[in-house]
Amino acid sequence: MPNRLRRFNVKWKGYYKWSVKDYRWLLMFLISRFNFIKKLSVYVSEKPNKKQESLEKSSCLDSIEIDKIVDFLKKDGLYSGINLPTNLVEEIHKYVDIANCYGNRKPEFSFLHKEKELAEEKYKKTFIVGDYPNVSQHCPAVRQLQRDPKLLDIATKYLNAKPVHLSTKLWWSYATEVPLDNRLNFAQVFFHYDLIDYRSVQFFFYLTDVDLSSGPHVCVLGSHQNKKFTHQFSFFTGRSDRDIIDYYGNDNLKFVCGKTGLGFVEDPYCFHKGIPPSQNNRLLLKIVFGINNYRTSDSKTM
Ligand SMILES: [Fe+2]
Repeated sequence: MPNRLRRFNVKWKGYYKWSVKDYRWLLMFLISRFNFIKKLSVYVSEKPNKKQESLEKSSCLDSIEIDKIVDFLKKDGLYSGINLPTNLVEEIHKYVDIANCYGNRKPEFSFLHKEKELAEEKYKKTFIVGDYPNVSQHCPAVRQLQRDPKLLDIATKYLNAKPVHLSTKLWWSYATEVPLDNRLNFAQVFFHYDLIDYRSVQFFFYLTDVDLSSGPHVCVLGSHQNKKFTHQFSFFTGRSDRDIIDYYGNDNLKFVCGKTGLGFVEDPYCFHKGIPPSQNNRLLLKIVFGINNYRTSDSKTM
């Protein structure tokens, strides 16, 4: 089965559920795949305040240049190099040490990360992911980052609109040898772009060291601006590696590797994917902003 169909097979129930919950989501899903619609949406979205208000007074991100990051986002759709302070990383790891995650995102498979092997024996399951539900409610360090004024400034300037916080997720991706089809239910292992909103931006933070064997994120640079017409004019947002390399070129594939604390920001309209970890587990935090609030509480992971 082609990758785009395999991905759709996993996703269609969610698409149906979110369409029923909010017709505006369905409209967005159908038309936001066209670049000209994204550009037109600038004229109908709520404009940002001159000074974007933030719940946090000061930023924990000292040495980042907001305008430079926004320029990279406009050109490449990706900027890597927003480093988290050590104390914030430590705070998140303290939370991870004591909080239960949900194996394969199911509340009935709840366990401490350090007891994962015991949990797999107990539940007789192989866990592909371990997800921390509602993490920003439970972990003050994550909540602080989600409200960070510099992150909000980047989102405001890139979206050219008042940013709407859509989701914050923290999860382990485990190095396992399960077939790719099983992993598809929990991870985005094929190239795709996300239709989260007419315009959106997502911040990622590695909370473990990530190399080529630990599930790096891969982004196709420039593919948010330079999207092939048939890649827009299709119901399917997933594509094969061959399709991607043939059109966008190998040189534009950016594998994001780095040490614990590395942050990067991406326009999810870029083609991207996550390589399945083969040697080491990966802990990743993702914070997503868009421009509209849809009545689809779990549509934001698409
Ligand atoms: Fe994605």
